Amino acid sequence: MQTTIKLNNGIKIPQVGLGVFRASTDEAEQAVTWALEAGYCHIDTAKIYGNEAGVGKATAESGLQREDLFITTKLWNEDIRQRRTKEAFAESLAALRTDYIDLYLIHWPAEGFQEAWKEMEELYHQGKIGAIGVSNFHPHHLEELFKIQTVKPAVNQIESHPYLTNQKLIDYCQEQNIQAEVWSPLGGKDAAPLLDPTICSLADKYNKTPAQIIIRWDIQRGVIVLPKSIHKERIVSNFDVFDFEISQEDMREISALNKNQRVGSNPDNFDF
Ligand SMILES: NC(=O)c1ccc[n+]([C@@H]2O[C@H](COP(=O)([O-])OP(=O)(O)OC[C@H]3O[C@@H](n4cnc5c(N)ncnc54)[C@H](OP(=O)(O)O)[C@@H]3O)[C@@H](O)[C@H]2O)c1
Repeated sequence: MQTTIKLNNGIKIPQVGLGVFRASTDEAEQAVTWALEAGYCHIDTAKIYGNEAGVGKATAESGLQREDLFITTKLWNEDIRQRRTKEAFAESLAALRTDYIDLYLIHWPAEGFQEAWKEMEELYHQGKIGAIGVSNFHPHHLEELFKIQTVKPAVNQIESHPYLTNQKLIDYCQEQNIQAEVWSPLGGKDAAPLLDPTICSLADKYNKTPAQIIIRWDIQRGVIVLPKSIHKERIVSNFDVFDFEISQEDMREISALNKNQRVGSNPDNFDF
């Protein structure tokens, strides 16, 4: 049974969502279709992925009610810098074939993010967004936002996997009542943690795949996890994670794999 978490504004978010980064429009459409058939209802896309139309086609043609889906998309850096929040939001709505977004995130703390936040607050108050949040924010970025916000971010979506647990940042978010979501949970494009001997031996022990071990570790850490795949078998098995429990000792063993090794950019010096 899919687990859900209540955000700080009361809305519920399913704990496992399908990520569609690096998927073409057609691949995203196919992956989302398979995911919805497998029981996912949470999809994580972004304007910069260029595949919102594929997500929109798959959800529109799924036969599911809009209120049974949870769709996240993100405001891209160039739109933040060019002060185009409302235009970019309208473009995302059109591509996604919907009249509201469940969760809308500032993708990176690009110059002008405070003004973008004020625009997002307006869209939120107009009922066009279920919850607003950020991504790739360090505590100092969040503290800048706290100075001007009237709506607190519901979510911070950050890089985290066994080689970069990012636990301090997750703990900080928790103290602030901001829900952490983790990207590249399997280690991104190369998915190196899936070959880690500790992860593989736990997979044998629990009779699960390495990916299922990591996704379950995230569920038990209390974060939202967004595994990406465009392969049906992986999409299905990555969601088969609600029928087992990792022991506290094994949870600690996975967390101890941390080596602060990023696969993506550092939010303090990204160059895009
Ligand atoms: N906010 C941000 O800045 C940000 C940045 C990066 C990502 N994200 C979000 O987080 C999502 C996940 O991150 P990610 O796309 O970097 O990677 P990921 O979820 O860590 O997945 C990494 C790779 O593992 C492969 N894979 C998936 N399931 C597998 C399995 N069961 N066995 C073996 N290999 C498997 C996938 O390849 P195949 O597709 O070929 O199966 C995928 O390319 C993204 O799609 C996006 O929604 C957000």
